[in-house]
Amino acid sequence: MLKFGTLQLDMPFIQAPLSGYTDHPMRVLAKRFGCPLTFTGVMLDKIALHHKALKKLKFQPQDNEHPVGAQVLGDDPEVIAAAAEKFIEVGYDLIDLNFACPAPKVLRRVRGGHLMQQPGFIRETFLRTREKVNCPVFMKIRIGYDGSEAANEDFWTICENAATDGVDMLAIHGRTVHQKYRGKADWSLIIEVKKRFPNLTIFGSGDIMTPEIAIQRREESGVDGVIVARGAIGNPWIFQEIRALWNGQEKPHPPSLEEQGRIMLEHFEMICQTRDERKAVPYFRKFLAGYCKRHPDRKKTLLALMACKTKQAVIQTIIEHYKL
Ligand SMILES: Cc1cc2nc3c(=O)[nH]c(=O)nc-3n(C[C@H](O)[C@H](O)[C@H](O)COP(=O)(O)O)c2cc1C
Repeated sequence: MLKFGTLQLDMPFIQAPLSGYTDHPMRVLAKRFGCPLTFTGVMLDKIALHHKALKKLKFQPQDNEHPVGAQVLGDDPEVIAAAAEKFIEVGYDLIDLNFACPAPKVLRRVRGGHLMQQPGFIRETFLRTREKVNCPVFMKIRIGYDGSEAANEDFWTICENAATDGVDMLAIHGRTVHQKYRGKADWSLIIEVKKRFPNLTIFGSGDIMTPEIAIQRREESGVDGVIVARGAIGNPWIFQEIRALWNGQEKPHPPSLEEQGRIMLEHFEMICQTRDERKAVPYFRKFLAGYCKRHPDRKKTLLALMACKTKQAVIQTIIEHYKL
């Protein structure tokens, strides 16, 4: 059992923050299938300070999905800390500070992954946030800004500060900011951090695409926990599979066609509750490649669903292809 203050995780495998994906519908389905903690996608600090935006349901966790972490991004430690306070006020359970995002527009604005080059900024942000909120404060970083020696030094300074200052959990993605999502994740540095700072809670991230890999990575790396990211898109069942293996049981039978279809319909209906049809249909398309992987006629089903232009067409196509 992993404990973060009053928050307890009954298994050390959690769903990643995924911008553009981990809104309420994906979070609530992950929870349903046994994921003990989910996050929002990264949110700009200013959103929290803009009252009208904060009031929108989209930014508030709903009753059936706790615990949920609010992931925050910004370029000023004081503003980030003030935003963290607001996110906790509206009901999030913990704060996750993002120093990992590699999106060019984020880097240009000296936010996210760019800050891996400024360990002092990261430290100050954590300490200011810690003062403002009475909840766990996590941090998400990568294994460096790039492959340079200077970046490696910064990386170790960030980890050392995190251990000294008592960061509740340090999540490390095994790619540099420069790499974005290219190539294979390198877990060797993640393993090294856990060895050097055994009291610092470390979660590793990178290339966790199957339940078997999730379990294997945790066992062979010695980290406290593992983060499932792309492997959970259109695949909430991965959490029940991980849970079974984690408990020493056999992997459950794959979900039947009917169950797959029902979950897809439910996911889509939830998306439609907060977006109008013109936005909901393309938004849902992003999940289809993941969902259709489990269909025996994957390609045909994926093509049919991708071609849908209206809400009714999506529903009808799911009903037909999943025999509902
Ligand atoms: C589409 C997409 C969006 C992401 N959004 C975020 C985000 O908002 N915050 C964050 O910390 N990481 C984000 N990540 C990184 C993931 O959390 C994770 O660390 C990364 O994908 C590596 O894991 P994987 O190789 O198992 O996918 C994102 C990744 C992807 C592919």
